[in-house]
Amino acid sequence: MAERIALFATAARGTEDLLADELKELGARRIRQDRGGVRFMATLDEALMVCLWSRIAMRVLYPLGAFEAHGADGLYEAAASIPWEEHLTPDTTFAVDATLKDSEHTHSGFVALKVKDAIVDRIRDVEGARPDVSTRDPDVRVVAHLARDTLSLSLDLCGEPLHRRGYRVRPTPAPLKETLAAALLRAASYTGEEALVDPMCGSGTLLIEAGLIARKRAPGLSRDFAVERWPELGTRARELLTDMRADARRNERRVTVPLLGVDKDPEALEAASRNVRAAKLSEEIQLIEGDATKLPPLPAPGGLIITNPPYGDRLGSGGQKGMKSFYFKLGESLRVPGWRVWVLSGNPAFESAFHARPSARRDMWNGPIACTLLGYRPAGGGSEAPLGVPHEPADVAPVRPQHEGEEDG
Ligand SMILES: C[S@@+](CC[C@H](N)C(=O)[O-])C[C@H]1O[C@@H](n2cnc3c(N)ncnc32)[C@H](O)[C@@H]1O
Repeated sequence: MAERIALFATAARGTEDLLADELKELGARRIRQDRGGVRFMATLDEALMVCLWSRIAMRVLYPLGAFEAHGADGLYEAAASIPWEEHLTPDTTFAVDATLKDSEHTHSGFVALKVKDAIVDRIRDVEGARPDVSTRDPDVRVVAHLARDTLSLSLDLCGEPLHRRGYRVRPTPAPLKETLAAALLRAASYTGEEALVDPMCGSGTLLIEAGLIARKRAPGLSRDFAVERWPELGTRARELLTDMRADARRNERRVTVPLLGVDKDPEALEAASRNVRAAKLSEEIQLIEGDATKLPPLPAPGGLIITNPPYGDRLGSGGQKGMKSFYFKLGESLRVPGWRVWVLSGNPAFESAFHARPSARRDMWNGPIACTLLGYRPAGGGSEAPLGVPHEPADVAPVRPQHEGEEDG
């Protein structure tokens, strides 16, 4: 893989342009945004830089081919036409992850099984012995996507998806994915050089991702990648990654800005505290118990307040009237002079109840929930116009977040 090959990095819907910008900075070439990801060209070392340094990509895939495939036999024949012996040996363990979209097949497990059979048979025919399947920790992860009659097959360079940074040791009810949190920070142009507060920090994902940016720490530093175990490329990939990891460690910087998390739930704070410790950011991130509608004094004259408040669908909220009233109070409390505010909301009532005019907006998906990311300039900056006279909002119909059929990795 000294030459450049075509790769596809996946990302949460609505963040593809942010990933494209990031990939450009990481040295990828011929970048093309697509639905759910970004196509690009890279050499092995450029691809490894993406695995180690991309904060937004969920997977980095090496597409092997796309085939028309009808019925069970069609799936098998399409998969069997790939020269798997170039990517696996009888000593390599592998797994097949399959997803479906508008397909005649209804079970992704069936598609995965057909592809698995084709791989096993092909390697046995060519090499005289078959490779074993390991669903827990395979050396090679094959990704099969069947959209209508088109079967696309790829190898996943990362193995575990990239949002698994290794620091989430305590789960909470509605955490942001690490890659989505990083995308929000990039959308808000956060570079780690200003103070940051998450007033409803939950398990601390936004704070930890901000801490990694402020520290200039590679998000993949504490994990390994499947490509390091590939028969053809593994040795070279390990050598290159050893150097890249050493460089990344050498080039980390001290964090000089305050990073503060607030949450009213002691259990969420306990989880955040454990995650922060696992991310080795305990010195950089401060956590306090408090109410976002009555914010304590902020730790700097200005900076970024960024958060995703409860939407009212997953966390039990006391009804939509209660949510509107809560958002109204947040509008009063979070608009602090000198501080810009970015909010990811999955509740369509948020924007009017928050009663300020956003200067930036984008639609994005938090897993299956359609969300809007809203950016507000600092209060008192003169450039934002309040949306009329603040008043306690009236009740509205219950929120029904839209659901998307596809899983987002
Ligand atoms: C959607 S979760 C945030 C998830 C977080 N971004 C993460 O990645 O884990 C919303 C959080 O808001 C907190 N919360 C709700 N009302 C609050 C309030 N009035 N003040 C502070 N925190 C509050 C909840 O305890 C919950 O942890």
